[in-house]
Amino acid sequence: MTEKYIIMDVDTGVDDSMALMLAGACKDLHILALTCTYGNNEVEKTTRNTQKIAELLGIDAPVAMGAVRPMIDPPMDFSGGLGPMIHGLDGLGNVGDRLQEPVHPVSELKAPDLMAEVIRKAPEMVTIVATGPLTNVAAFLLSWPELADKVELIALMGGAAYGGNLAFTVEANIGHDPEAAAVVFHSSIPKVVFGLDATMGVYITDEERVAMAEKSAVGAFMKDCLQPYADTYRQLANWPGAVLHDSLPVAWLIDPDTVTLKPVVIDIELNGRLNRGATVCDFNSNHTADTNTLIAMQADREKIIALHLEAAGHYQ
Ligand code: RIB
Ligand code: CA
Repeated sequence: MTEKYIIMDVDTGVDDSMALMLAGACKDLHILALTCTYGNNEVEKTTRNTQKIAELLGIDAPVAMGAVRPMIDPPMDFSGGLGPMIHGLDGLGNVGDRLQEPVHPVSELKAPDLMAEVIRKAPEMVTIVATGPLTNVAAFLLSWPELADKVELIALMGGAAYGGNLAFTVEANIGHDPEAAAVVFHSSIPKVVFGLDATMGVYITDEERVAMAEKSAVGAFMKDCLQPYADTYRQLANWPGAVLHDSLPVAWLIDPDTVTLKPVVIDIELNGRLNRGATVCDFNSNHTADTNTLIAMQADREKIIALHLEAAGHYQ
């Protein structure tokens, strides 16, 4: 693969943690910064979780705190719902206290400004990998429009051509901040969208988690970190394993053959009574001819799981 300079905007979270493990193990992915948003938990927790996971993985990159709430909608209530069932009360599968307290302080810059600083200084174009609500990315685009030309690509986990998980036709990362998503999708920066159409098929089975644990202490932590997630998906949907939504953008950067992409024109529904936050997809070829957006419609689960097992072995 060719070397890539990336910023990961995350709401760590257990599947965000697996994406970080994958990225941290790839020598050709240069992680310039980790920026954190609310989403799976309040931003103070997602930031601390990101610091702890980054230090576990030896990722040498600044960590910045970002948005505390969506642009328009009221602040999220983190007390109930599926979040704690999937990500645990601590956001790390209730095993986050196994990790040492962060040694490195959070950046003095807030997320959009850290994005701007590293993009301005980067030796090459930068790819933004977003695996949470898009509030930070939108704030960066609105605050620093002159830097958009240095962003090669936005690779984001979010949305769905068909279906949803926050509502019948709304996926969580987009649905938590539809206005921010609209800012991102209306930008001219090329985007690759990894929505539920592709991510739901990339689950890790219990047996594969055991194999990952045997690779290293990092793999063992990730196995346990994913336990509440796996239990919840099995109980609620009889799903064969925890779904590694956030790993797909990273897996695709590492090996583009892991995912099948289609040109699409996407806009965000902002006013629908039933589908506010939906990614409305137009696959009509007359419209997609000059689109700057691709969407993942299929993924190779076995290839992507193999990448994770290889990555776990990297952290001896
Ligand atoms: O819909 C899946 C997304 O919501 C993932 O990014 C997961 O971490 C949660 O944020
Ligand atoms: Ca996430």
